[in-house]
Amino acid sequence: PVRGCLSIVVLGASGDLAKKMTFPALFNLYQQVPAYTVQFGWLFIQGFLHSDEVRIFGYARTRNLDDEFRYRLHRFLDHDKVVSPAQTEDVSEFLHLVKYISGSYDAEEDFRSLDKEINEHKSSKVQQDGSSRRLFYLALPPSVYPSAYKMIKLFCMNKSKYGGWTRIVIEKPFGKGFGLLEKLSNQIGELLHEKQLYRIDNYLGKELVQNLMVLRFANRFFLPLWNRDNFDNIQIVFQEDFGTEGRAGYFDEFGVIRDIIQNHLLQVLCQVAMEKPVSVDPEHIRDTEVRVLQSVCPIQSEEVVLGQYEGYCEDPTVPDDSNTPTFATIILRTHYEKWDRKALNSRKSEIRIQFKDVPGDIFESKKHGRNELAIRLQPSEAIYMKLTIGVKQPGLEMDTTQSELDLSYKQCYQGITIPEAYECLILDTYDSGHQQHFVRRDELTEAWKFFTPLLPRIENGEIKPILYKRGTTGLLEADDLVQKAGYVQTQDYVWIEQ
Ligand code: BG6
Repeated sequence: PVRGCLSIVVLGASGDLAKKMTFPALFNLYQQVPAYTVQFGWLFIQGFLHSDEVRIFGYARTRNLDDEFRYRLHRFLDHDKVVSPAQTEDVSEFLHLVKYISGSYDAEEDFRSLDKEINEHKSSKVQQDGSSRRLFYLALPPSVYPSAYKMIKLFCMNKSKYGGWTRIVIEKPFGKGFGLLEKLSNQIGELLHEKQLYRIDNYLGKELVQNLMVLRFANRFFLPLWNRDNFDNIQIVFQEDFGTEGRAGYFDEFGVIRDIIQNHLLQVLCQVAMEKPVSVDPEHIRDTEVRVLQSVCPIQSEEVVLGQYEGYCEDPTVPDDSNTPTFATIILRTHYEKWDRKALNSRKSEIRIQFKDVPGDIFESKKHGRNELAIRLQPSEAIYMKLTIGVKQPGLEMDTTQSELDLSYKQCYQGITIPEAYECLILDTYDSGHQQHFVRRDELTEAWKFFTPLLPRIENGEIKPILYKRGTTGLLEADDLVQKAGYVQTQDYVWIEQ
């Protein structure tokens, strides 16, 4: 069908986020995908961005960067890092759609010129219905958000009489605490409607996070099980095997709670803990998510363990006496627990739901650990049910053994590439426009609300992180805390990816 032209403006185009996340995602959406048809054999199917309707504008402060900008992007997409294998000619064709524009984030004349460029794109299109879709992607530090919003609102909104829309994608951090968030949200609210705002949380774009609703509400056997009568505790684990490399300046201001827990892990918590929404309508789903956040009890400081890896303060951008945590284990009641850590011995994100002990345990299975449902978000995406002692060892003896029911994505979905989170999310912003996988203002308010009493206490040094060595498995204090909260560690059990 003939559609209006689509202009994607990436503000902050010369920055790291745009280079590493936004442009590779746009490129992958554009890239042609090979598909096999019985009639014609192998064909290249057009991707999700069509060259006859899209133009991408990279906007940043640095002057005279046009060719250099495309050259850098070319090198990055073609050689350094692309999410799926790039075809060289695709990269060149993609870059024909990209134009660099320099300007500041508060100068009227620069935004007027940007508007002119967008309009020129519009009029150069033959295959269009006259409407115009404008997507502004703010890959910017939050300090410049207010002026950028204002400039977009004043000079760059879609005014086509044939219709279309203007949408704005924003990246975290959304504020730094409850007070600041409200101020920022009010400022934005005066300029833009909530329907125009897409607050990105890349965890909401991850395949297995998106799968949670289907898993929970489309399977009869999970429905009666998924409650506190059966679950003892839930862990939401995020860990990385690297430190703040190159990002310490940003990280030290925010710390691991604001960087990961308040956003990514709380969003995962919502997907795990929400009731069944009335329907799959995005607003019904987001209403249900908000209710989860509203029902979490205030955090108790004795149920928090914070850590900082040794050597963190040696980074020149970090003050010698920084109290910023790089590790946090926090118990959220009722029976939800989550933790997060940087610079450990491995990288993974997973949800681990531990079941209660078997009542009337005739096999003494309790000694060997508990049933667990693990949902590995990354790497090695999988859903598996740990049957700690739940299977008879095949043979003549009546022995029991550990096993699992395992849905490893690599094995089950051979030949299918799992898209990067940013691809799914960006596609939603300009294609369906659905906001299900984006954070609504009231969700954000609730999420900040219950971390706000804790954060100032960390900042004023009242709660101090414990030092831990890089490359280790974490803090014993945190292990003790989760065990006190009910988690039972299974001995001698290792899940091996199929
Ligand atoms: C980002 C954080 O939002 O998420 C980073 O700012 C973190 O500190 C990253 O490394 C993790 O994302 P992913 O997709 O690699 O799990």
